[in-house]
Amino acid sequence: MTQLFHIKTFGCQMNKHDSDSVGQILINEGYRQTDSIDDAHIILINTCAVRQKAEEKALTFIGRLSRLKRRKPDLITGVIGCVAQERGINLLKRFPYLDLVLGPRNIYQIDKFVSKVEKERERISSLELVGELTPFPKHNGYLKGRVTSFLKIMEGCDNFCTYCIVPFVRGRETSLPAEKIIDEAKYLVSQGIKEITLIGQNVNSYNVKSKALPTFPGLLSELDSIAGVERLRFTTSHPRDLSDELIDLFGGSKGLCPHIHLPVQSGSNNILKLMNRGYTIDRYIDLINRLRKTRPDISITSDIIVGFPGEMEGDFEDSLSLINEVKFDNIFSFKYSDRPGIKALELPGKIGEEEKQRRLSILQERQRGITLSKNRLVEGSIQEILIEGPAKRGDDYLTGRTLGNKVVNFFSKGNLKGRTVKVKIVKGFQNSLLGELVDG
Ligand code: 5AD
Ligand code: SF4
Repeated sequence: MTQLFHIKTFGCQMNKHDSDSVGQILINEGYRQTDSIDDAHIILINTCAVRQKAEEKALTFIGRLSRLKRRKPDLITGVIGCVAQERGINLLKRFPYLDLVLGPRNIYQIDKFVSKVEKERERISSLELVGELTPFPKHNGYLKGRVTSFLKIMEGCDNFCTYCIVPFVRGRETSLPAEKIIDEAKYLVSQGIKEITLIGQNVNSYNVKSKALPTFPGLLSELDSIAGVERLRFTTSHPRDLSDELIDLFGGSKGLCPHIHLPVQSGSNNILKLMNRGYTIDRYIDLINRLRKTRPDISITSDIIVGFPGEMEGDFEDSLSLINEVKFDNIFSFKYSDRPGIKALELPGKIGEEEKQRRLSILQERQRGITLSKNRLVEGSIQEILIEGPAKRGDDYLTGRTLGNKVVNFFSKGNLKGRTVKVKIVKGFQNSLLGELVDG
């Protein structure tokens, strides 16, 4: 009988991508994926440690496995990803029914570990954070039905922002050789993928440490020249490392989409310094101006943390002023959360939960207005939409995204998935746009 596996994924795009890698490796070994946790013989939880709340969610989910394991003693259970790295073998102690604990860099041997547990019923943890990156396993058919895909080009981070656990759980910056990335991009195209998002914790640092070539802008140009790569995106880039060469690409490249996610984290220079971000607000705004000069229709999104230790009312107001000035297309905003090992743990001036919530609500309310007005601004325009599939809003509606990464739903009969069409935007909402097909 074919063994079934189920993967539950928390966290960022890289975690989603890692879950795909794990899934593909197991499929290559003859296992089959199931959406049903009750039918699965192997349950893996891919976890996020970036904020306490994310971690608690994962721990609650792990707790629920106890009941399943009692009913099915042969069940194999594993925690993988960032919480696995952070908590290590303590997870095996705390959850006696857990078989596997694998850090983000150890997931590529999932087949070996699963078979060891199957044969020897040994409980295993693997938490090495060094070594080369493993490319995505070959995956004929795995991406069936998808039009867009991630492609991991680097992993880890050397920046040590004082709020961030990532360097501790994903290790130091490591880049995948360019030939492997180019091979993967060609393979993705052969599988029907039209849009590739290059992912890494800090893509601007691609190959910088090893001094190998190409650097990130060069890599983007090489990928842009591959036939069939219609759209290219990347995430995440650090404002400190955003080069002129990269900004210029937004003006001249064929497939690079006019969208950048450029996390600013705070509008206050004092707080940026405490966060060890390595830029000032003036420098950040200068980058935004240069990006907009090069590509006037570029959409810009960002991350902001409220309630970082020592954040005074004035610092918070600086963040509000910043979003009013820059008018981001959207932001992701978070309450500062203590994490084990980070420098900010020891900083004075911790902000209470209620105050953090108050600041977050004000910031989010302000941004909602800005996002909505930005979405209304494109009403009447004609946008190129890559169709990703049927829309959630119901029958005969398709969904896709603009070059600037805004979701557009529009009425259409017929299966146009994977095609790029022109759509006139008739209405801008808070989270999406409504359009009308103009051609095709
Ligand atoms: N508390 C709150 N938000 C955090 N982020 C990272 N670490 C923390 C933390 N300790 C946010 C940052 C980052 C995003 C992925 O998560 O804004 O850009
Ligand atoms: Fe979460 Fe960061 Fe790990 Fe992604 S890299 S899963 S955001 S802790």
